[in-house]
Amino acid sequence: MTKKILVLPGDGIGPEIVAEAVKVLECLCSTFDFDCQLEHALIGGAAYDAEGVPLPNNTLALARDAHAVLLGAVGGPQYDKLDRPLRPERGLLAIRSELNLFGNLRPAILYPQLADASALKPEVVAGLDIMIVRELTGGMYFGQPREIRERADGQREGYNTMIYAEDEIERIGRLAFDVASKRAGRVCSVDKANVLEVSELWREVMERVAQDYPNVELSHMYVDNAAMQLVRAPKQFDVVVTENMFGDILSDCAAMLTGSIGMLPSASLDENAKGMYEPIHGSAPDIAGQGVANPLATILSVAMMLRYSLGEPKLADRIQQAVGKVLDQGYRTADIYTEGSKKVGTHEMGDAVIAALREQA
Ligand code: NAD
Ligand code: IPM
Ligand code: MN
Repeated sequence: MTKKILVLPGDGIGPEIVAEAVKVLECLCSTFDFDCQLEHALIGGAAYDAEGVPLPNNTLALARDAHAVLLGAVGGPQYDKLDRPLRPERGLLAIRSELNLFGNLRPAILYPQLADASALKPEVVAGLDIMIVRELTGGMYFGQPREIRERADGQREGYNTMIYAEDEIERIGRLAFDVASKRAGRVCSVDKANVLEVSELWREVMERVAQDYPNVELSHMYVDNAAMQLVRAPKQFDVVVTENMFGDILSDCAAMLTGSIGMLPSASLDENAKGMYEPIHGSAPDIAGQGVANPLATILSVAMMLRYSLGEPKLADRIQQAVGKVLDQGYRTADIYTEGSKKVGTHEMGDAVIAALREQA
């Protein structure tokens, strides 16, 4: 069956890295028995510039109609002063929410070839393989009320609401336990239950979900300690499940263990494993347009798409193998460059992955 994939390049380095991931998809179609139809649409600042809104209706309709969505990144300093509803980030949050993509899988895997590129000692990160399961459509990102308001004394105050219903906690819990039961069988739920009521409920529901998974071990950790443990001894974790904002922060931290944020892919899934796939990094305005961004997180996001939404685990394996091969060959973009390796730009890295894929044919 032809798989319909919606491609949303977005802003900054988004179009550069997505172009390489699209080359990989096209290579799968021409080299292996894969049949896909790509459609492109606008999101974020690019959509605002063209149509005055960060998530045009047409983009959302195409996303609903597709089997999967591939997204680059959104945002940039030129949009930071816009009214909040018009900002690029709102487009991203809206598409996640509209498609009900509550389950965000962010795997932090250290490719052994990159042990030297990690900011941590090789022995601390060697063999690292963590899955962060981030709740993506709730918590403070979406909670009401939220506002900046003026008080009677003339001072303004800003506030947001971290709110989770039991069923929202339960479904992300189940996803984490399902994932863990196919891995090392350990879930660490990260919260701030020593301070927050919302975390107290989170912990209680996680305990309840755990009863349905006798083969998975549940532990709890406060988020401040988790940030420290991720840097001190990251290999203690198998699956980490956490709420939206804690997961945002911890996954950038975990990314750095693997050498660069340019290496971390993600899958955002609904109840039926329909999904949107994107690198966890942003639009990197500081390097946009220079052709130096690392496209591997986006290419690895295509692998996750094949595995989780398109039912093509063998093709997913092929992409991961190809990425391993180019790292073996010494190709490095600037963010993962170490002395003695071959420094390449975004295109060359994409070309090297394609060459490695063709060799597998
Ligand atoms: P960022 O992730 O864009 O960049 C942080 C640092 O990492 C920068 O130095 C950047 O050059 C580097 N980096 C990121 N991706 C890289 C890659 N593929 N290769 C090499 N280096 C890479 O985070 P930021 O600077 O805080 O945010 C920039 C903009 O991106 C903001 O507008 C923010 O809102 C947006 N953002 C979007 C997403 C998304 O679309 N999912 C995620 C995070 C941030
Ligand atoms: C991410 C980003 C987004 C988030 C922003 C751009 C809305 O940081 O995907 O990690 O916070 O979820
Ligand atoms: Mn983030």
